[in-house]
Amino acid sequence: MSTSTTYLDESAYAAALASDVRAGLTAAAKTLPPKYFYDAAGSDLFDQITRLPEYYPTRTERAILEAHVEEIATLTRARTLNEIGSGTSDKTRLLLAALDRAGTLERFVPFDVDPAVLAEAGAAIGAEFPGIAVETVVGDFEKHLGLLPRHPKRLVAFLGSTIGNLVPAARHDFFAAIRSTLAPGDHFLLGTDLVKSPARLVAAYDDAAGVTAAFNKNVLRVINRELGGDFDLDSFEHLAAWDAEHEWIEMRLRSTRDQVVHIAALGLTVAFGRGEELRTEISAKFRRERVVEELAAAGLRLTQWWTDPAGDFALSLSEPS
Ligand code: SAH
Ligand code: AVI
Repeated sequence: MSTSTTYLDESAYAAALASDVRAGLTAAAKTLPPKYFYDAAGSDLFDQITRLPEYYPTRTERAILEAHVEEIATLTRARTLNEIGSGTSDKTRLLLAALDRAGTLERFVPFDVDPAVLAEAGAAIGAEFPGIAVETVVGDFEKHLGLLPRHPKRLVAFLGSTIGNLVPAARHDFFAAIRSTLAPGDHFLLGTDLVKSPARLVAAYDDAAGVTAAFNKNVLRVINRELGGDFDLDSFEHLAAWDAEHEWIEMRLRSTRDQVVHIAALGLTVAFGRGEELRTEISAKFRRERVVEELAAAGLRLTQWWTDPAGDFALSLSEPS
């Protein structure tokens, strides 16, 4: 059986995009939220990123899952797997299969802001796991977590280190919202990319084939299409920089000339100076202590911490404290 729910319909998405773009492009230091990378084209570009030689997080997290998935199934005995920011749910199949083998799995609830990637993944997983219910949910994990159905024995998974795309205050709000949906017996599985050499990090966000550059510029395409913008993509260049103080990568788009951009639906004109940078994403990198602290501050107690042998990436399991 498969159902789909939308907390974010087209008009709510359009209204949020309009207000976020206006706020971000009229700020003294211009920014755009990373959630707008992900239309069908952006999700496809992210999927390509996951296979790039420089982009180690996806294959490393997959290896950790492969090594510990039976343990996760035994520890959680989850009946519902609820995946947040699910995308293609590629690695998630390992979890689904382990929970299925353990005989506990009844339901998969993937949640994502991009309806296209969600519909495709939901249909494929429904066909691969015919014995379970698949309930896709379109929503914004910064706004709609409280609306998620509270099935008993839930494992909430947030993979890929997407948590790192939130600034610390937003991470706290996210963890608190997750915590408030959890009941005793539920678990939270979190993927976090770990601090490592800046050279490897920068390469992972500035690949030689230029796929990350195309992904970064996709946010401008989204604005052009959805809000009648006239961004000239060739007049911006992709940039990835390590911020050692905050321990995060910043992706930016740098204006290669003085230019004026119009956004018709907002009646907005935005001037960019030559060399001016627009921040489009942060991708925070973690240390174990920070993950433990941030979870604890939201009422979540870390019970398991698994990494790959090189210590590049971590998966952690926590429960309501
Ligand atoms: N979990 C997958 C995909 C990570 S890419 C993996 O580990 O590979 C990040 C995913 O989160 C994308 O599918 C994107 O559409 C989704 N996403 C980003 N911001 C979101 C938001 N605010 N609310 C819901 N989904 C979001
Ligand atoms: C989804 N998120 C965890 C990715 C990351 O690594 O921060 C998005 C991404 N940005 C550039 N490459 C990949």
